[in-house]
Amino acid sequence: MGLIEAGAWGLGRVAAAARPGRPWLRVKASPWWARVLVAAGARRASTSDSMAVTYPANAPSALTSAAETPGESDPPGSSAAMFELHDVCIFYGDAQVLRRVTMSISRKQITALIGLSGSGKSSLLRSLNRMNDDVPGFRIEGRIAYERQDLYAAEVDPQEVRRRIGMVFQRPNPFPKSIYDNVAFGPRVNGMTGGMDDIVEKALIKAALWDEVKDRLKASALLLSDGQQQRLCIARAIAIEPEVLLMDEPCSALDPIATAKIEDLMQELARDYTIVIVTHNMQQAARVSDYTGFLTVEVDHEGQRYGRLVELDRTTRIFTKPNDKRTEDYITGRFG
Ligand SMILES: Nc1ncnc2c1ncn2[C@@H]1O[C@H](COP(=O)(O)OP(=O)(O)OP(=O)(O)O)[C@@H](O)[C@H]1O
Ligand SMILES: [Mg+2]
Repeated sequence: MGLIEAGAWGLGRVAAAARPGRPWLRVKASPWWARVLVAAGARRASTSDSMAVTYPANAPSALTSAAETPGESDPPGSSAAMFELHDVCIFYGDAQVLRRVTMSISRKQITALIGLSGSGKSSLLRSLNRMNDDVPGFRIEGRIAYERQDLYAAEVDPQEVRRRIGMVFQRPNPFPKSIYDNVAFGPRVNGMTGGMDDIVEKALIKAALWDEVKDRLKASALLLSDGQQQRLCIARAIAIEPEVLLMDEPCSALDPIATAKIEDLMQELARDYTIVIVTHNMQQAARVSDYTGFLTVEVDHEGQRYGRLVELDRTTRIFTKPNDKRTEDYITGRFG
């Protein structure tokens, strides 16, 4: 599948996603466009040491304690953890590519996943919004709870999952349409008709692109630079007001200036969104993220290679005093 088709596939599936009234949707009390306005004024959740999460891959008790520790800005009774993964294993056909991942992803924080090529970072990321569901042979065991609900439960609509949990891909993949129509695409397929100019403008402002494109909204998105296209893709993703943004190496095709813009943008967006980013750029993980998870590749006695989460902790700790020697070797460049 080409990149454009992949993007169209992802967003095209959004079309069927708006089905208010499903039990899984109950947390959405206000109209989504009203929440855009509210979210625009929201402040980023402050980071509290009481939320610290350290997850040896086989320590489910840590998951429970972190999940039950509310963040400072969360309403009473809500969890600091947006996602809670317990013993997650991922398979493609007979091959198990990820073993027993137990971790939490904190609300309105940036969590970076770093580690060896083939350690399952992308597979793990894509399992967080069920993007892997249609991959032939894909199978998942264990439990991923999103807002305390089982993401893979039979009654959960995967298209609604993808609406609430957006994805930005490695390479910018705008549709061959105007800048305006790219951003308006998601809201339109979700049935929005009025107020589109406002929605497009707000998404472009949030994506730090408005000033560069406000005079040429009807121009083709394909005329933008790579860095601008990636910010347009972020605007397109946030125009449908997701709660989480998953980003798989979003800067790997960009130059340092465009990368710096996207990094600034991520930090800005983390006021409103929970962000999970996969990156091979360790400086990037250190610069932008609040938490970092390190994955490695292990080989079992039958010679089967599989990915494993070594540890997930505050980014400052991972880069200064990691718990595991393998993490230290990786971040100091002695390994991989
Ligand atoms: N669709 C698929 N079918 C079969 N195997 C797959 C598929 N996608 C990934 N894999 C395998 O799963 C393992 C993990 O791949 P994944 O892409 O998740 O790793 P990664 O950590 O993101 O690697 P990289 O850093 O190179 O992007 C690899 O061995 C890969 O070959
Ligand atoms: Mg990958």
